[in-house]
Amino acid sequence: MEDLLNDSSIYVLSCLRKRGYKTRPTLSKPKKVVGNNLVFKDAQKEDAAFILELRTDSKKATHLSKTSNDLKQQEVWLEKYSNDSGQVYFIIFNKQGEKVGTVRLYDITNDSFCWGSWILKNGTPSNYSIESALLVYHFALSLGFEKAHFDVRKGNESVWKFHERFGADKVEETTDDFIYNISLEAIEKSLEKYKKYLPNGFSIED
Ligand SMILES: CC(C)(COP(=O)(O)OP(=O)(O)OC[C@H]1O[C@@H](n2cnc3c(N)ncnc32)[C@H](O)[C@@H]1OP(=O)(O)O)[C@@H](O)C(=O)NCCC(=O)NCCS
Repeated sequence: MEDLLNDSSIYVLSCLRKRGYKTRPTLSKPKKVVGNNLVFKDAQKEDAAFILELRTDSKKATHLSKTSNDLKQQEVWLEKYSNDSGQVYFIIFNKQGEKVGTVRLYDITNDSFCWGSWILKNGTPSNYSIESALLVYHFALSLGFEKAHFDVRKGNESVWKFHERFGADKVEETTDDFIYNISLEAIEKSLEKYKKYLPNGFSIED
């Protein structure tokens, strides 16, 4: 059993987790994470144009790291991403099958993951932000993570306020950014507090 728990294969660890064993957390790219109004699907090369459209939107991009408006470069990035086991990049769909946003989990540090690249298209219903955050945390907890870390631009006030309402603690700041941690206890408290946004729970399809 000890050998299995120390196995480097993400597949072996996910099998152990499904059988109820506590393993070290690893990121894996599922086919889908299904919520109430939203479905997360693993980003594909074909999503390059959609991602570029979001990331180069002058209003949305204010607080994001700069993306060059180059479709080929974005496709190459996504191809490389498909072989990168260190991150999961989701395209967020609504239940009507329209692409409405993106979100990414990356930078595993022991049992903590970082999330970001969180963008919702202009005009999406206001409950999509909470539902997408709930799905990120449910998915991460299912992989064995017990906390998260992220940074938010100081000027991105609505987003750092969002995280603070979710229970994140500001632990540091740089010239431009606030740096946050969120504990398992705070995550679980928010999953409970906002559970009405996922009335039928969530599911993960591998
Ligand atoms: C980040 C992003 C996806 C968040 O989505 P959003 O819709 O702006 O989220 P908001 O914080 O405005 O929340 C949406 C609604 O839910 C409400 N809400 C948010 N958190 C809530 C909470 N904890 N409890 C109750 N209501 C809450 C808000 O008040 C808001 O309601 P309103 O529309 O009636 O004002 C979006 O702002 C975006 O795409 N930003 C550009 C990219 C970016 O900066 N990303 C972050 C860096 S990674």
